[in-house]
Amino acid sequence: MKNGNRVNKLKRGQFISIEGIEGVGKSSNISAIAKCLKSAEIEFLITREPGGTPVAENIRTLLKDRNNESIPEVAELLMMFSARSLNVRNVILPALKSGKWIICDRFTDSSRAYQGGGRGLSMEMVDDLANWVHGDVNPDLTILLDAPVDVGMTRISDRGQPDRIESEKHGFFERVRECYLNLAKREPKRFVVIDANRDLSEVQDDIREIIQRTIDNN
Ligand code: TMP
Repeated sequence: MKNGNRVNKLKRGQFISIEGIEGVGKSSNISAIAKCLKSAEIEFLITREPGGTPVAENIRTLLKDRNNESIPEVAELLMMFSARSLNVRNVILPALKSGKWIICDRFTDSSRAYQGGGRGLSMEMVDDLANWVHGDVNPDLTILLDAPVDVGMTRISDRGQPDRIESEKHGFFERVRECYLNLAKREPKRFVVIDANRDLSEVQDDIREIIQRTIDNN
């Protein structure tokens, strides 16, 4: 189906989020998704969280800066949701309404995994905020790139100085990973878990298959 047809029908676009601990290869796999959508002539936007709008990108900088004053867990959670509120209102929702697809590099599952699983905040609090901030604007498909923490950490060690969150201890990322895998078990229809501890070409073959299936079903 041609791009124009899809947009003219004004069917809500598909919302795809990509999740995983640091170093699992989100960026290269997002490029693979973009390529698939382009060849299917589907209009889409790529955004990321925290970030995606000028103010939300400023919040991202604050959250990542390791030289900041200490940021309490609750403040961190609220900053993530402030940024999310901007991204949903100003980028994601308008795009979906106009029929465009969204590829979002992280969304609320990151808050569940990092602030809930990693920091130990109550999942109920995260879910309440999610309801309040974005109601029924939720991903249709969530791709969880999964790899052992050591693998991810080794990959990011080449990127230079770790940011504030990347500087957390191994145990933190183990809790984040475990929480992601539990979320995926709880919502098997929305989540697809991909073993990211393989050659990128193999991972991307899986990604292409999933995206093609999503295109065919829409
Ligand atoms: P990244 O997009 O480069 O991975 O950086 C985003 C960082 O922010 C990453 O360490 C995960 C973290 N994060 C949270 O802790 N909670 C959230 O809700 C989001 C969106 C990201």
